Amino acid sequence: MQILDGKKIAAEVRGEIAAEVVQLAAAGKRIPQLVAIIVGNDGASQTYVAGKEKACGECGFKSQVLRFEDAITEQELLVQIAKLNADETVDGFIVQLPLPERINEQKVVEAIDPKKDVDGFHPINVGRMTIGLPSYVSATPAGIMELLKRYRIETSGKHAVVVGRSSIVGRPMMNLLSQKGAPGDCTVTVCHSRTKNIKEICRTADIIVAALGHPEFLTAEMVKQGAVVIDVGITRVPAADTKSGFRLQGDVKYDEVAPKCSYITPVPGGVGPMTIISLMKNTLKAYKKEVYG
Ligand code: GUN
Repeated sequence: MQILDGKKIAAEVRGEIAAEVVQLAAAGKRIPQLVAIIVGNDGASQTYVAGKEKACGECGFKSQVLRFEDAITEQELLVQIAKLNADETVDGFIVQLPLPERINEQKVVEAIDPKKDVDGFHPINVGRMTIGLPSYVSATPAGIMELLKRYRIETSGKHAVVVGRSSIVGRPMMNLLSQKGAPGDCTVTVCHSRTKNIKEICRTADIIVAALGHPEFLTAEMVKQGAVVIDVGITRVPAADTKSGFRLQGDVKYDEVAPKCSYITPVPGGVGPMTIISLMKNTLKAYKKEVYG
């Protein structure tokens, strides 16, 4: 069993990005900038945005976090987005989700200029990804694909089972794993809360992506000997022995599943760091206008 070390690979990618930024600076060029909008005080969202800000610093990017009260109106938020769309010094920006319930998230996402949508949530980017056109791919699926690529995991002709059908992980994974060329060419099955025989289906998988947000869902009896297991779960569960009072729990029952795997991602230190670094990669792509020219 080999661990897919997301922390290590993310550091590698970070080094590559930082080296490019050093060259830009040396040539007197403008530095890439990512902006994050955050609304309200949700603890997990604050942590995620702080992680993204830190990563920007480590890559040499400029970054800004725009914080708004929970009471901000949809209209006010749309005005802020329009300003960022028009600001030529901002290469990409994200609106951290979830938003307060009275704000229409889809409307907000669709207000972002697809050229600056480094989260890859805009339907134009989702659609382009689906048909294999250049696009911003959302950070978690992009990070998983990078991990598979850098560990040279054979995916061609393999049966991949994606557990979870969310628009930001499950569905893009289904598309990316089945796309032409490495790391793709998989036969993909997507399982979800209405799937019958989920255990039996998982047992036939060469690659399992567990992305349902249900702690320790995937048990040893659901995994074939030699499978590759990617754990996307990051549920906060109470823990007495940590400073924060919680720890992150994956969707995989790691201790019993790991011995059966050829490769497995740990939580933390697997998919999480790859997600953040993929957002940085998308920001550099936006700066270089690689997607839309
Ligand atoms: N909330 C949870 N994950 C994400 C993410 O990747 N991007 C944004 N904008 N919000 C999130």
